Amino acid sequence: MSALQLLSLKPHSSSYPFLSPPSIFSKTLKPKTHQPKNPKTHIVSVLQWNRKPQLSGPTPRVVVITSGKGGVGKTTTTANVGLSLARLGFSVVAIDADVGLRNLDLLLGLENRVNYTAVEVLAGDCRLDQALVRDKRWSNFELLCISKPRSKLPLGFGGKALIWLVDALKSRSDGRRPPDFVLIDCPAGIDAGFITAITPANEAVLVTTPDITALRDADRVTGLLECDGIKDIKMIVNRVRTDLIRGEDMMSVLDVQEMLGLALLGVIPEDSEVIRSTNRGYPLVLNKPPTLAGLAFEQAAWRLVEQDSMKAVMVEEEPKKGFFSFFGG
Ligand SMILES: Nc1ncnc2c1ncn2[C@@H]1O[C@H](COP(=O)(O)OP(=O)(O)OP(=O)(O)O)[C@@H](O)[C@H]1O
Ligand SMILES: [Mg+2]
Repeated sequence: MSALQLLSLKPHSSSYPFLSPPSIFSKTLKPKTHQPKNPKTHIVSVLQWNRKPQLSGPTPRVVVITSGKGGVGKTTTTANVGLSLARLGFSVVAIDADVGLRNLDLLLGLENRVNYTAVEVLAGDCRLDQALVRDKRWSNFELLCISKPRSKLPLGFGGKALIWLVDALKSRSDGRRPPDFVLIDCPAGIDAGFITAITPANEAVLVTTPDITALRDADRVTGLLECDGIKDIKMIVNRVRTDLIRGEDMMSVLDVQEMLGLALLGVIPEDSEVIRSTNRGYPLVLNKPPTLAGLAFEQAAWRLVEQDSMKAVMVEEEPKKGFFSFFGG
């Protein structure tokens, strides 16, 4: 199905399982932090698809985007969810906490504008606002890199330093409003960089692909996040291919959800546009016409704002083949 055909579908059309609108008739398997809502509110949200989502919870919402396994789509998620939030009118600061291997600036096309990093702010070599790189397209989106590419985490830089930076953002004195969202792009693994990245967060988005290696790591990371006191953990299942799921060559989103027991924030299809947009430094959600993955990221952003989740469901496939796990709203 082309993106243009997609646009002609209503957002909640069951013909396209990735694009269930936020809030519709959804319950999660294990709604760890899901706020039960008045059913009337749900109906209103379906009818008012063009409304602005209601920001839930105290701000700034400090959200770490993590995974355990590398290369599953954390940075892609941070860029696309972050810019979607900015487009919805929220003020967003994205922190690239992947020290030494930073690449969020590349995905956003901002690499030539990073003159200072958080390390220089903490050393007193520049002000915080000088290290915040404002996006060219959405001025309410700013990027903060922890350090220069290929550099090592400076001695003494840890979770406390990141907490200090988040506090400084809350009470910023440069005349700009404090962020509604601070998104922290976490490095892969569970070592010092991971611990630093999760320290200031009060919620987490766990990105996983539907394969057992990513799931094992995601499960381990979920345990570590919970130990750190982060109870609001939602997952994004990325690089999903319905053709493989139908052929039973890929785990379904329902299987993933049953294994991890986390609320589902979004399901992102495998989409070659992601790689194209990465290389152009132009996040997918800005594409016109929108792509499948771009629309799915936008919906994930919407759910994040409202602290909502979607549901993985079983959908009837061709009658002869019986029932297959599928996903949708
Ligand atoms: N839905 C998708 N469809 C196709 N390609 C994707 C999708 N999501 C991510 N990718 C590709 O996967 C690769 C890894 O993505 P990304 O850099 O976001 O992962 P990461 O988890 O941040 O990696 P790392 O652990 O190294 O920081 C990139 O080349 C990206 O373009
Ligand atoms: Mg990354």
